[in-house]
Amino acid sequence: MTDTLTATASYTDRHGASHALPDAAGDAQVRADDRAHVFHSWSAQALIDPLPVAAGEGSTFWDYQGNAYLDFSSQLVNLNLGHQHPDLVAAIQQQAGRLATIQPSMASDVRGELARRIAEVAPGDLDKVFFTNGGADANEYAVRMARQVTGRRKVLSMYRSYHGSTATAISLTGDPRRWANEPSDGSVAHFFGPYEYRSAWGSTSPEEETARALAHLEQVIVLEGASTIAAIILETVVGTNGVLVPPPGYLQGVRELADRYGIVYIADEVMVGFGRIGEWFAVNHFGVTPDLITFAKGVNSGYVPLGGVVISQRIAAHFDTVAFPGGLTYSGHPLACAAGVATFEVFERDGILERVRDLGERVVAPRLAELQAKHPSVGDVRGLGLFWAIELVKNRETREPLVPFNASGADAAPMGAFAAACKQNGVSPFVHFNRTHVAPPLVITEDELVRGLDVIDEALTVADGYTA
Ligand SMILES: Cc1ncc(COP(=O)(O)O)c(C=O)c1O
Repeated sequence: MTDTLTATASYTDRHGASHALPDAAGDAQVRADDRAHVFHSWSAQALIDPLPVAAGEGSTFWDYQGNAYLDFSSQLVNLNLGHQHPDLVAAIQQQAGRLATIQPSMASDVRGELARRIAEVAPGDLDKVFFTNGGADANEYAVRMARQVTGRRKVLSMYRSYHGSTATAISLTGDPRRWANEPSDGSVAHFFGPYEYRSAWGSTSPEEETARALAHLEQVIVLEGASTIAAIILETVVGTNGVLVPPPGYLQGVRELADRYGIVYIADEVMVGFGRIGEWFAVNHFGVTPDLITFAKGVNSGYVPLGGVVISQRIAAHFDTVAFPGGLTYSGHPLACAAGVATFEVFERDGILERVRDLGERVVAPRLAELQAKHPSVGDVRGLGLFWAIELVKNRETREPLVPFNASGADAAPMGAFAAACKQNGVSPFVHFNRTHVAPPLVITEDELVRGLDVIDEALTVADGYTA
């Protein structure tokens, strides 16, 4: 670790007592409890070694050894305002002191204010919000709304997508996390989305990719039976599966196809909403208006679990006199909503959207272009705002991925070595298959951002060693 990355000297335990770092006893206790009793997501339990985290502030967190990590993945791309943002912490504390919970069939000031704020920044006539506990259930409810309104059942979603881990959401998912969960919701069909670097149709320009991806989607609609399709769901910018930015005209084309065939267009903005690409909602950047937008994560940086569906007037109107068949005990939880309202205040006061666009264009884009020119392992770089992918290859001519699709164990070693080099130098990277993503908190300072990119630059030298 470099000296500048080991800044904090202490942490506060849950009884309020302060401890110096490093703290071997604290580390051992957390590890012991975790290994004995915590069952972790997506893991073979005996094969993992979760890092005990003692403290976090802004874009940095510390382990009990006193090592500092600059968080280049914002935890799970949710920590948009960084750790321990004073305004969010105060909002939660204040709400806990006045009304810690209230059930969803009653009206709450913070729930109403957050819904109004969201409606104000949502595109078109999307002006009602159904609140959920997170992203997966937001997608579940969006699909349920589409099915109720259309009287149809099937949903189309993309290969190379993630929509959550509950029954319908995992069925919608177009990555290997779905495989062990099949069959679940049987009424889902997948299609290919645009991916310029690895075009499914051999396109040679963004325009061609748009045209071919839309022709393919229309074929899927026709062959699956337009009259059976309730919804098309897609991530506005595909997140975990590659930061795939849609080429010009693609989302407009999806909108047109949805209209032509009477299909509900659901934009999954769980990862990209709330500032990640420098807009409240990513669809605003592309100038399209879906029928439903799902969100979670950045709405309150995940300080308290919260997600939701933003609903167009047409779909909301269907439920004016017909009861919506769904609900959650914690829908619109006041602690979560208070943190959401505070998020709006911070974004507006501190010009978060503007700074994300500025840092993306002025700092990240040129630096990644430089890394691509310098490192033979870098096949492609792409992104917007503070959301970028560096796609690593064995060979730039053949574009063979540095590690195979869905690699694990020894096959994934090159990416493991890259990640280890990042951590060694104080950066916690996002690594998925043959990519690393640059997705730091939106409050990251320019100095921190440059320092993190320097570390990635150095770690790419390790990846270069695996090229052929
Ligand atoms: C695009 C997208 N949709 C849905 C989800 C699921 O959200 P959650 O984990 O809150 O259920 C995620 C989570 O990473 C996501 O990235």
